[in-house]
Amino acid sequence: MFSDCPVVYAVGESYQIFFYVRKDAYARIQIGDAVFDDAVCGNLRSKPGLRQITVPQKALDDAGGYTLALERIGPRKCYRTAQKGVAERTFPFRPVPKSGPVRAVMVGDAHGDLDETIAAANAGKPFDCLIVNGDISESVDEASFALTHNLAASLSGGALPVVYARGNHENRGAAAELLPAFVPTRDGQTYYTFRLGPLWGIVLDCGEDKPDDHPEYGGSARFHAFRRAETAYLQSVIAHADTEFDAPGVTHRVCIVHADFPRVQEPPFDIEHDLYQSWCDLLSAMRIEVIAAAHLHRCQILPPGDKDLRLTVPCPLVVGTEKTGDYVGGTLFTFAETGVAAQFILSTGEAKPPVIL
Ligand SMILES: [Fe+2]
Repeated sequence: MFSDCPVVYAVGESYQIFFYVRKDAYARIQIGDAVFDDAVCGNLRSKPGLRQITVPQKALDDAGGYTLALERIGPRKCYRTAQKGVAERTFPFRPVPKSGPVRAVMVGDAHGDLDETIAAANAGKPFDCLIVNGDISESVDEASFALTHNLAASLSGGALPVVYARGNHENRGAAAELLPAFVPTRDGQTYYTFRLGPLWGIVLDCGEDKPDDHPEYGGSARFHAFRRAETAYLQSVIAHADTEFDAPGVTHRVCIVHADFPRVQEPPFDIEHDLYQSWCDLLSAMRIEVIAAAHLHRCQILPPGDKDLRLTVPCPLVVGTEKTGDYVGGTLFTFAETGVAAQFILSTGEAKPPVIL
């Protein structure tokens, strides 16, 4: 069951606020005097389900809170639908600090195990933003997406920004094609840039981890074309550097991606060597300081030139989510004036010593 707590995802210079509606209702978010309706082409949405409203980051950052209002209605009619009253809930919001260190906790690879994943993130508290880096569940049906929503809601309380990257396992199942309605996207795409205070980031999506014609996918995969379009997007980001990674106030730059694509891969996982090298070259042009990945179920820091890398990378690759039989691990990144640090945090409550990247 989806949590009633909203999730505030960062995309571009906006927040996409996701919330669950249990009965027919119009929805709006109020920030100060500004009202943002959940409307499509002038019509308010009213169907139950996971819904989202996009708001400008600056408005929410400045206000420090928002009110979610649901207006219950009777059956939607062609004439005179009954309006049955408004229920409001107000949430505080704490934006990433404009200056000083930014603490970002990354979790992923939950594969359904929310409790342990939440415990790992708690070992990194307090943090300023949450990174949910894929493989939270497979996409069997719409209820599958409750795991991602509930994980983000539980750890952020709707009061902190969250960054989401899709994992390869979210491509498995009958509901995979529905996922873009349940997670933040940029024009429906699961790769995008984001800005959180002094931190600028780009979320990449490798799709699946084997060739499109692998029998496991049953003919459903078209990720080579998806990645080619993503390459064009990366080039467009560089063409707009002044409003992206070179924008005023940006002091740190990070890439979030589920797959540890620069690592040495065994067949059939050794896909897209040239395309992925071009991504690394484009990340170099963006002056990315760390590639934060998941997928391997083992925490590891690989500096440029490491023997376990198959690609030339512009910065360390941190494979930062762990899943063993005994515990789950994540990573606390600290972006400070003195540099970037990565600290592995475990569901046991243990935190490894931080490593300056
Ligand atoms: Fe994965």
